Amino acid sequence: MRALPRLLAALIVALPLATIAAVANAAEDPITVLTSDFEDGTAQGWAGRAAETVAHSTAQAHSGTGSLLVSGRTAAWQGPSLDVLDVFEKGTAYTISVWVRMADGSDNARLSVERRTGGTAAYDQVVGNTAVTSGSWVNLTGRYTLATDVEFLRVYVETASTTGSFHIDDVAVSYVPALPIQTGIPSVKDVITEFPVGAAITGAEIVTEHGQLLSKHFDSVTPGNALKWDATEPTENTFTYAQADPLMAYAKSKGLAVRGHTLVWHNQTPSWVFTGADGQPMTATAEDKALLLDRLENHIRNVAGHYGTDIGVWDVVNEVIDESRPDGLRRSSWYTVAGLDYIRTAFRVAREVAPHAKLYINDYNTNVPAKRDFLFGLVQQLKAEGVPIDGVGHQVHININWPTIAETKAMFDKFVPLGIDQQVTEMDVSIYTGDSESFPAPPADRLLKQAYVYRDMFALFRQYPGEITSVTLWGLADDNTWLDTFPVTRKDAPLLFDTRLQAKSAYWGVVDPSKITGSTASPSASSSSPPPGTGTCVVTYRVTGSWPGGFQGDVKITNTGSTALSSWRLGWSFTGGQQISQLWGGAHTQSGAAVTVTNAAWNGTLAAGGSTTVGFLAGWTGGNPAPTAFTLNGTACTVL
Ligand code: XIL
Repeated sequence: MRALPRLLAALIVALPLATIAAVANAAEDPITVLTSDFEDGTAQGWAGRAAETVAHSTAQAHSGTGSLLVSGRTAAWQGPSLDVLDVFEKGTAYTISVWVRMADGSDNARLSVERRTGGTAAYDQVVGNTAVTSGSWVNLTGRYTLATDVEFLRVYVETASTTGSFHIDDVAVSYVPALPIQTGIPSVKDVITEFPVGAAITGAEIVTEHGQLLSKHFDSVTPGNALKWDATEPTENTFTYAQADPLMAYAKSKGLAVRGHTLVWHNQTPSWVFTGADGQPMTATAEDKALLLDRLENHIRNVAGHYGTDIGVWDVVNEVIDESRPDGLRRSSWYTVAGLDYIRTAFRVAREVAPHAKLYINDYNTNVPAKRDFLFGLVQQLKAEGVPIDGVGHQVHININWPTIAETKAMFDKFVPLGIDQQVTEMDVSIYTGDSESFPAPPADRLLKQAYVYRDMFALFRQYPGEITSVTLWGLADDNTWLDTFPVTRKDAPLLFDTRLQAKSAYWGVVDPSKITGSTASPSASSSSPPPGTGTCVVTYRVTGSWPGGFQGDVKITNTGSTALSSWRLGWSFTGGQQISQLWGGAHTQSGAAVTVTNAAWNGTLAAGGSTTVGFLAGWTGGNPAPTAFTLNGTACTVL
């Protein structure tokens, strides 16, 4: 496996400062590790997955004159593939981009990786079905992180249904080098002592920096997809734990508790589950109902049985409420075939096979009064019947404006009289307040607002130490969040750590709210709103790399005033004896601790809402404390 990131780190330590600037300057830029442009008349190492023909072609080209054509396919899974065993390093997140165009007709194309360990193959989807035609080129771009040791690794493109010929072109694979995690900040789990705090993860997040971040900050972990039906029983009575077992082994080795998610859901459940003995979609007949409940029982016996006491909490059923129905019950295939008996069966079997485990009914938007009340009524009814429900899971997928603390409090209060446990199971705080918004990078004011939401929500959770028995975030860091593609595709930033695994203001909102804005007074803890009138600038200071005696950092300045600046002067104080040797994005002077940076010719105008970043290299001898106060044109800024 290639070792480029480590090599780069070693180079940064070994090189003289002037050379470091060139390397380090580019630290946030992606490094391209593979391209295929098909301009040299060859297939550039691409081959078929079976006996199909893969050849250079000039019939179509996304750029230049050549592309790759796959023809003679006899199955939809056949397509061009490339060996990337020596390219991909375990634990590094790669972005893979490929252009696709049908030769004739239309289909859906998808991008995947096949990997083999000990001869066993697994298939990871990188980009799902995307419509392609012969009329234009379509781009498939997705992220992939290899989590396990492999002896075979190939990227490939296939189609969903037809065997038509298609072209690919301009393939590129790149990654952004990881930063080390911050080890000198408090662990979330040490600060929050009222209940365990967890994070949901997908496979690759147990290795390298992600694994370190997870075990430093969290007490518990939820496999984000690995325990769902499509992952554990893709075909009837064939159980596979290839996705979940590595996560479980990691959790065990680090002493992390595991939330089992989820035994029964209407999503990520293969269609065979709802197909009757006659090959037709099941309906509400006695025969179909009996078969469905048998399948349900078999599934739970196998999956919950496989992990025994290693899983202490199960989301037995997920998202069964639909408050738009008169009876509040979601019309899933489960419900339409089996009525409420699917819920009764699921809890009964889960209790039998995992008597030690706490059994949960889990749902989203449980703060919405109508939904909350239907859920309450259902739990009350089922408990009265003797159905073994131990707790209600509130997903808490929220955003910076919604819901209020009061609504969230009412949600917890509602369930207290039932005498059951409650858990926050999938919390994230989107920076978006509507589907039409999209920011290339998270704006400073949204991140600030988000920090106050995290602060206020955690303060609320901590008021229920007896009732709330754990809080889980739906992800580890902003580099991997389901909200990047849901409800629409755009970059979101809903978690405590940024895309490079560094602590955000949201983290400080949970851990130490006084650090959210440096010296700025904090608003009342019940209002989720940023402090009033905090000047006209926001500054973010980061150390982006360090080595013995030196470090690299950057300072992002945002003009939060309502008028543009035509020139700017930024000031701060380095109290640890740090001395800047080189700075880009402006001109600097340093007198003792006092640093002054004025704009460069090209970034003097800072529009209202606009930002710019200066980067620098500095030496240090003692400690390296971060500056806590910044001024812009003499006025104090909010420090994030
Ligand atoms: C999401 C996963 O995070 C995604 O990777 C997947 O593509 C779809 O499901 N409510 C739930 C979770 O209960 O299972 C969902 O997880 C997010 C919403």
